[in-house]
Amino acid sequence: MTLIQTLNPKEEYMKKVLFVCLGNICRSPAAEGVMKELVQRAGLQGQIKCDSAGTSAYHIGEKADARMIKHAQARGYKLESLSRKVDSRDGETFDHILAMDQSNYEDLIGLFPKHQHKIEKMTSYCKFHTYSEVPDPYYGGDEGFELVLDLLEDSCQQLLIKLKKEL
Ligand code: 4NP
Repeated sequence: MTLIQTLNPKEEYMKKVLFVCLGNICRSPAAEGVMKELVQRAGLQGQIKCDSAGTSAYHIGEKADARMIKHAQARGYKLESLSRKVDSRDGETFDHILAMDQSNYEDLIGLFPKHQHKIEKMTSYCKFHTYSEVPDPYYGGDEGFELVLDLLEDSCQQLLIKLKKEL
């Protein structure tokens, strides 16, 4: 049987970006929310599509963590995603796949060996921060969620500059 992936005709021509963390309830939904807001502000919502996923199946179908939603909302970002696991077709579908930490990065390289060139660490886009990963905030306090947003605002701004050049 041949599986043909059907993309919405408009989506076919969009740049597609996937943000990936472990649970898809904290860091990658926040990355998706921050990036969507920046894309919207730039008037590029018809040209850049953002999504997020997790390498684990722990939280499939769940909304983002309530703490992440609260911290993001305080900075003007709406997190509306429902957790999903990375799908075998994602390597083909997306133009850029951004891993939140080293472990996510290595999992993605293992899943999509033919699409390694699309896989990067989110922090490689940071201009004003020197972190090598977006640290997992799940078992920590408020400051961890704020740090996630600091790193994502920095990296998403730079990522948007790069994407604009690719359009
Ligand atoms: P995330 O955070 O990968 O940023 O969504 C986590 C969420 C849940 C778990 C770990 C990390 N967990 O172990 O359930």
